[in-house]
Amino acid sequence: MGAARVLPRRVLLGVSGGIAAYKAPLLVRALVKAGAEVQVVMTPAAHAFVSPLVLSTLSGRPALTELVGKQDGTTVWSDHVHLARWADVLLIAPATANTLAKMAHGLCDNLLLACWLSAECPVYAAPAMDLDMHANAATQGNIARLKERGVRMIGPEEGELASGLQGLGRMTEPEAIVEQMIADLMGHSPLAGLNLLITAGPTHEAIDPVRFIGNSSSGKMGFALAEEAASRGAKVELITGPVALAAVHHGIQRTDVVSAAQMAEAAKLRFAKCDVAILSAAVADWRPASAAGQKLKKKDGPLTLEMEATEDILAWMGTQKAPNQVLVGFALETNDERRHAEDKLARKNLDLVVLNSLRDAGAGFGHDTNKVTLIDARKNAAELPLMTKQATARAILDHVEKLIAHAH
Ligand code: CTP
Repeated sequence: MGAARVLPRRVLLGVSGGIAAYKAPLLVRALVKAGAEVQVVMTPAAHAFVSPLVLSTLSGRPALTELVGKQDGTTVWSDHVHLARWADVLLIAPATANTLAKMAHGLCDNLLLACWLSAECPVYAAPAMDLDMHANAATQGNIARLKERGVRMIGPEEGELASGLQGLGRMTEPEAIVEQMIADLMGHSPLAGLNLLITAGPTHEAIDPVRFIGNSSSGKMGFALAEEAASRGAKVELITGPVALAAVHHGIQRTDVVSAAQMAEAAKLRFAKCDVAILSAAVADWRPASAAGQKLKKKDGPLTLEMEATEDILAWMGTQKAPNQVLVGFALETNDERRHAEDKLARKNLDLVVLNSLRDAGAGFGHDTNKVTLIDARKNAAELPLMTKQATARAILDHVEKLIAHAH
């Protein structure tokens, strides 16, 4: 089914205490199989139905229960705010009548509820209970209230219940929960089904068969953008210079190039078909006018290289851009950052420029973090804090989603 099978990376799975909790290990496996990192948070009641050891082992992270607990004799606090921020999605499955009731009324007497109250990400709940409990007006009222507040319900289903009765109340099967969540999350992104072209990494410009002029771009920002766009359902063409990175999402079609000329050729070929182009590559602006056919020898004395300009791919795209295409460039500046970036935006006919200042610690080449300012064609600027490149990618694509809404 292509890109539609993969989840955003981080799922906080809240397991509450009902019989259906015995399916939580299968749910963890289905989430992991779909490419998610899973952190389990259990209510104390859930321990009666499923072993934390099993959930910890399958998720690769300790399943947490206590807001404040003991670990090796010392008191530890599980930071629900941090957990909630870490998550891209909160899934509560099974969600019992009791947990749904507490959620609907803002009660906070366990870690799962504290996480839910702190969560700013999409929240899904898969109710599971006996049919009469589900049909009760109080439960129906709680579900309706949670839906109004944006909680997305998955199920319950009709079927045989633990009580032996037949009716509505069965938790949706784990595989189906994952499928529905993916379909729903993708349906919510305007990027779903669109073609994205992303350039990443450095280029290497040959001096001779073994030497080149390059730069220290790691490609991390471009790869983070590609992964994030693909997990929102976009079809991504990633054109990358030489990097030591792997693209894992199967919604990403990767093309490896070495030089600026090769990158230009690959990118230009794919531009007409794309809805959005994000050029994050650090393309060489100059290349040796001619590369030596043989390895140059030291004994030939000092070396003077004649350099010639490479083609500016981004500027070319700016001249070719159709009204419904969104073009995003990067600007790495060392001084007068804002002015230079705005100038680049206008000169290259961009919809958005991502400004990196080399003056910011932790930003730019090689780091896992970045600190950028997003400037759009109306000169609206959003200065983002120092964040991981993944979080920066999310913020950039959130902005691109808004631009798409205008462009289409
Ligand atoms: N870029 C490109 N092709 C090139 C050079 C740059 O596509 N040959 C793109 C980069 O991927 C980036 C943006 O252009 O998105 C910014 O590159 P930069 O080199 O800073 O732009 P210039 O206009 O060359 O900047 P300056 O005037 O500062 O030299």
